[in-house]
Amino acid sequence: STLHSFLQALPKCEHHVHIEGTLTPEMLFSLAAKNGIELPSDDPAFASPSSLRLRYQKFTSLDDFLRYFFIGFEVLLTTSDFEVLTYEHLKNAYSQTVRHTEVFFDPQVHIARGVSYQTMLSGMNTARERAARDFPQMSVAFIPCLVRHLPASSAHDLASEILSHGHLEDATLVGFGISSTEAGRHPSLYSSVYATLRQAGVENLTAHYGEEGPSEYVAAAISDLGVKRIDHGRRAIEDPSLVRRLVDAKVMLTVCPISNVVLRGVQEIKDLPIRQFLDSGVRFSINSDDPAYFGGSLLDNYCTIQEAFDLSMPDWKVIVRNSVEGSWCSDDRKMDLM
Ligand code: HPA
Ligand code: ZN
Repeated sequence: STLHSFLQALPKCEHHVHIEGTLTPEMLFSLAAKNGIELPSDDPAFASPSSLRLRYQKFTSLDDFLRYFFIGFEVLLTTSDFEVLTYEHLKNAYSQTVRHTEVFFDPQVHIARGVSYQTMLSGMNTARERAARDFPQMSVAFIPCLVRHLPASSAHDLASEILSHGHLEDATLVGFGISSTEAGRHPSLYSSVYATLRQAGVENLTAHYGEEGPSEYVAAAISDLGVKRIDHGRRAIEDPSLVRRLVDAKVMLTVCPISNVVLRGVQEIKDLPIRQFLDSGVRFSINSDDPAYFGGSLLDNYCTIQEAFDLSMPDWKVIVRNSVEGSWCSDDRKMDLM
């Protein structure tokens, strides 16, 4: 349709995609074979890439997904593994007219299984340099994500390690986030690690909240962690005073429509508060989260929003402008993207 062509050609900024979430079942199996990694033999889903893909269509919750997501990490061992994964993702993003992308990665989990921060980052940076040559119209940045299923002390250790690696001097690392399981992980648990980051001069802070957890977590992430963005933030709509606060503070939500349906946060796309966010002036961008697990590209996420909400051209202008303004890139780059 013409809208599909319009959305395909639309210059896009993505702020919420996990590099490990771009690992397809086929890549997972081929890297496991190459690296001699045994996949779980007690789970019939790991019989083949196609049975694994079928299992991905039956996720029951965020935690059910995360069990598979973190198994996928185990096949990534070398710099080259991270390079191939990242380059494939960037090529794919470029084919969808992505002009700026900020990619999450979970260093704590890789370090915990013996893969160093340097291994990961050098593979990702090689991919970024190749992409800069092959796709010069696209800017690429990385955002390390802390994880909530490991102890808060482990988050502290990672933050210190990254700061000691010169996070602040590395222009490709543009912020800091936190993800993984949400239930029972109140933001106050992480206020000291976020305070450490702020004191070290890291200004661009975000956090996954309001995906499964209550609006109160979103409010607390702003108050206790000092975040400028919220990843997901879907449930913020349940608190009108929080909605006003998001508007006033220009906090951008990185909404992931297909992810929310696959992980059963909502029954269908129509249940997302997209119209309310637009009408009340809440800034948001549209994102794919973990496209290899949820079965939808970034463009699919744009198209499904269009189909569910029948947005107008002015609506799309607002979405595009907010996702450029909410990007963590230079003002000059934002001018190029407008
Ligand atoms: N939520 C929490 N943790 C995650 C997600 C998510 O959507 N994707 C990858 N890790
Ligand atoms: Zn996410």
